Amino acid sequence: MENIIPHHFQITRTQREALMGHPSYVLWFTGLSGSGKSTVANAVEEALFRKGMHTYSLDGDNVRKGLNNNLGFSPEDRTENIRRIAEVANLMADAGLVVLAAFVSPYEKDRTMVKQTVGDTRYIEIFIDTPLEECERRDVKGLYAKARKGEITNFTGINAPYEAPVSPDIQIDTSKVSLTESVAIILQYLEDKLNPNHE
Ligand code: ADX
Repeated sequence: MENIIPHHFQITRTQREALMGHPSYVLWFTGLSGSGKSTVANAVEEALFRKGMHTYSLDGDNVRKGLNNNLGFSPEDRTENIRRIAEVANLMADAGLVVLAAFVSPYEKDRTMVKQTVGDTRYIEIFIDTPLEECERRDVKGLYAKARKGEITNFTGINAPYEAPVSPDIQIDTSKVSLTESVAIILQYLEDKLNPNHE
């Protein structure tokens, strides 16, 4: 690392944001598997895209097939998973995009690291707070059933921990709030922040 000297580029993030017409952010969706993170993130992305924002989505099921296909679900691998994603999200935000990242990210310390990597003012934490019973009832991918049978170890909520965020920017329980309402809550929160003159 000592012989790596960063190059200072001519075009800054501020200039890219001006060209994009809006500031860049990382919207970080955290919650149990099956809580609705990706569904909400996708619907928010669609709404932002229609408003002319420049967006990109990252989520567990696609990043783990590519960039992170050498990682599993041990605490160490999850930390490495989140570390790489934080770096990618930071690059994308630096490029001027509004990044929607949906990852279980069960550890508080890993989410703190994301916040440090992308910067306090660029990080928006959205806790998809759907109760475990509801996620398990949905069991869209059949993974809870496998975890209960002992076929998956380290499954978040069953035999691995989920540390709930202490002070998320937004908290939504999708068993109580519809998808349309969830999108409206998030857009309302972002309204002022996505203003081109927002500092
Ligand atoms: S994280 O904990 O490292 O943030 P990530 O969001 O990338 O997890 O991946 C979670 C997805 O992987 C879940 O939605 C689920 O489909 C799948 N999965 C497979 N095994 C596990 C496991 N042991 N714990 C949680 N999710 C798992």
